[in-house]
Amino acid sequence: MNITMIGSGYVGLVSGACFADFGHVVTCVDTDASKIERLLRGEIPIYEPGLDDLVASNVRQKRLFFTTDLAPAVKGADAVFIAVGTPSRRGDGHADLSYVFAAAETIGKALDGYTVIVDKSTVPVGTGDEVERIIREANPKADFSVVSNPEFLREGAAIEDFKRPDRVVLGVEDERARAVMAEIYRPLSLNAPPLVFVNRRTSELIKYAANAFLATKITFINEVADLCEKVGANVQDVARGIGLDGRIGSKFLHAGPGYGGSCFPKDTLALLKTGQDYSAPLRIVETVVAVNDARKRAMARKVIAALDGSVRGKKIALLGLAFKPNTDDMRDAPSLAIVASLVGDGAKVHAYDPEATSQARPLMPEVVFHEDAYAPIEGADALVIVTEWDAFRALDLEKVKSLLKTPIIVDLRNIYGVDEVRKHGIAYVSVGRA
Ligand SMILES: NC(=O)c1ccc[n+]([C@@H]2O[C@H](COP(=O)([O-])OP(=O)(O)OC[C@H]3O[C@@H](n4cnc5c(N)ncnc54)[C@H](O)[C@@H]3O)[C@@H](O)[C@H]2O)c1
Repeated sequence: MNITMIGSGYVGLVSGACFADFGHVVTCVDTDASKIERLLRGEIPIYEPGLDDLVASNVRQKRLFFTTDLAPAVKGADAVFIAVGTPSRRGDGHADLSYVFAAAETIGKALDGYTVIVDKSTVPVGTGDEVERIIREANPKADFSVVSNPEFLREGAAIEDFKRPDRVVLGVEDERARAVMAEIYRPLSLNAPPLVFVNRRTSELIKYAANAFLATKITFINEVADLCEKVGANVQDVARGIGLDGRIGSKFLHAGPGYGGSCFPKDTLALLKTGQDYSAPLRIVETVVAVNDARKRAMARKVIAALDGSVRGKKIALLGLAFKPNTDDMRDAPSLAIVASLVGDGAKVHAYDPEATSQARPLMPEVVFHEDAYAPIEGADALVIVTEWDAFRALDLEKVKSLLKTPIIVDLRNIYGVDEVRKHGIAYVSVGRA
């Protein structure tokens, strides 16, 4: 099949490369000319494990192309995927659909022959109807269907998630579109993930309900962690004890500094707005959003408390800035709020992240960035672990102790055992463990 992917970011580039790897011929389009130039030079604009090899091999085999020129890429395509950003709209938290609608209008003008327009961006209920209307208005004679196919990949494990998804959700309104989507995803049949065919509005809502549920799970265990600290219980053991129950499941039960990233914060807010618009408020999600916001500031207070109530003039070493390991994505990373609080209270923050430094630098102008994990620790009053990159899991704790001015580690991801650190004579503060 001939597939065109509009938007070559985390989702568009990974999906495009994976579809090409399945044997489809894919053209990835982006309005960001510098991004496309880098891709044409063989550079990958984002950090995602395995993506460089996947892109290179499919470009070599002439199944994957890049362009800024949308119209020729749309003509002759069997399916055109929209994978542009849907950030929170400034001011009200609604999803900003301007990129989706702009893409729809340009697609409409370029359509030639029956084409399925597939919305892969995360969009509120009813957006498919609006995309259909915009295309119809731009090109009244166009022969097309609009499908919703939300994406569930996780950054850092995106290729594996795309190729071996738990399910593929497809919101279709007609048989022709259903047949095209079944053909596009047919190469997955070896791994046999369920193709969940539903109506378009249901599909749009499934994506938000999934993210809101996962955000709730994280927030739940974070509050349980706070209680554990008060009562002398261990949140990791609680999470294991409840997670082994098949009805609960062990994933997304890791206590930490609160959820962040490119999806959960904006998607929970957008779902709240949809609930309000339709007079069906989602009170649990409202609470989740409020609790998570407060948590990021609470993490900075945890660091300040570990330093006897003041960080003024003190040097703090931060390991990990990206919102999670194996990505360079800084969107809504908890590190942003933590750094802002610490700097606001007079701390000098030194940091290291294996991949996110270039994204973080403009967002944290006061921070001094380093090239390896030990450099920021030298002479620091405390070490704070914010993102659980593998490279931080086996630090030489004797070396860490000798580099620190005062031997304090605040581990916001619980990557070390309590006794393991304390036996080195280091004061150790973690999340939800006495
Ligand atoms: N990042 C994730 O992990 C993830 C996972 C699942 C779903 N999603 C959803 O997928 C969508 C895309 O997310 P992302 O993280 O890939 O965003 P991104 O910002 O990394 O990429 C979006 C790309 O679209 C391009 N673009 C914008 N308007 C365009 C247009 N009219 N024509 C061509 N290109 C255009 C931008 O230049 C950018 O490169 C969002 O709705 C997001 O919520 C993201």
